[in-house]
Amino acid sequence: MRLRKITEVKNLKDKRVLVRVDFNVPVEKGKVKEDFKIIKSLPTIKYLLSKGARVILVSHLGRPKGVDKKLSLAPVAKCLEKLLGEKVRLDRDPDFRRDDSGARLVLLENIRFFPEEEKCGIILSKQLAGLADLFVLDGFAVAHRASASVSGVAKYLPAYAGLLISAEIEGLEHATAKAKKPLVLILGGAKIETKIPILQNFLTKADYILVGGGIVNTYLAGHGHQLGASLIDKDYIKLMKRLGAHKKIIMPVDVVVGCANGTKARIVSLLKPLKLSKNEGIFDIGPATVKLFSQYIKKAKTLIWNGAMGRFEQHPYQYGTYSLARLFAARSKGQAFGVAGGGETIEILEKLKLAGEIDLVSTGGGAMLEYLSGKILPGIKILKKT
Ligand code: 3PG
Repeated sequence: MRLRKITEVKNLKDKRVLVRVDFNVPVEKGKVKEDFKIIKSLPTIKYLLSKGARVILVSHLGRPKGVDKKLSLAPVAKCLEKLLGEKVRLDRDPDFRRDDSGARLVLLENIRFFPEEEKCGIILSKQLAGLADLFVLDGFAVAHRASASVSGVAKYLPAYAGLLISAEIEGLEHATAKAKKPLVLILGGAKIETKIPILQNFLTKADYILVGGGIVNTYLAGHGHQLGASLIDKDYIKLMKRLGAHKKIIMPVDVVVGCANGTKARIVSLLKPLKLSKNEGIFDIGPATVKLFSQYIKKAKTLIWNGAMGRFEQHPYQYGTYSLARLFAARSKGQAFGVAGGGETIEILEKLKLAGEIDLVSTGGGAMLEYLSGKILPGIKILKKT
């Protein structure tokens, strides 16, 4: 996909550039708890400043219903200032007047304080456009939202892709449309309704799909296993029963079951029907499954991973997920092109200090899932070269 990139603009000196970033980061007691997305946004900001542009950043934080002080971007402004060593002016002007303070770097207050943002309102889109000469979309994580500050503003200003979004799209294309085969997708996690479209889309693209988490439980429920407190989505039992029979989908052969608090944990084979009591559930894949999955991972030339294999936050249910993370990272180190994304997947890679081994650790949670489901994201549509 050919995108209009900010690096193609010849003269940025004294140009006002509105940059849509995704600074939707966890904040606790007035402090940013996890700055991964902010750090990923720095190259575009630094690039624009180095070219003499005046940068106006726009982002959302959380899902406020109107103005909510708890969701102010003030802590983010502080964090950004520290990371950049550059003054950041937090602009709270509700009328979106052009900043005449001479500041090089301005951050607008949480754009979701304005209900028009999510409705992609014309007035807000025009107000945002009025602040700048150019628009840059750099927050891949918000590219699936047709909001005023994502796609609306691009109707009134020339729009370009920032360095982060360009790299993410390039990486994702490398792992999908331009993937080297065998392509192996590892899909886990809890939100089944967001995973099914990916599963369906990859049945024609991937060579193998290794599955864990809620998808597997939902499949097993369709085969008469008694799954107790396991996470299941009843609406998808029939569909998963059908999809799970596909030869590209590799199901676990054993799982770790027990109570949610980690007691009574044991490994059980899936060759026999499970009969779990009502306070027990499936919380991880077992060692025979890790061994089976490793055979596919070791052959892969392209690897995509989204979602944990179980309740990894609770000991002793972390081993399956962590083993897969290690196999995925080891293979991504030079032998396969590795892409990972989604909140918990990044959390696991960071915890195991493996994120540096992966070719693309996407900032996109929902955006990455929608991209992998084959959807055209509104934020990417506005950046496409015609
Ligand atoms: C994210 O964190 O996934 C993005 O910032 C999008 O947030 P949203 O789901 O509230 O639109």
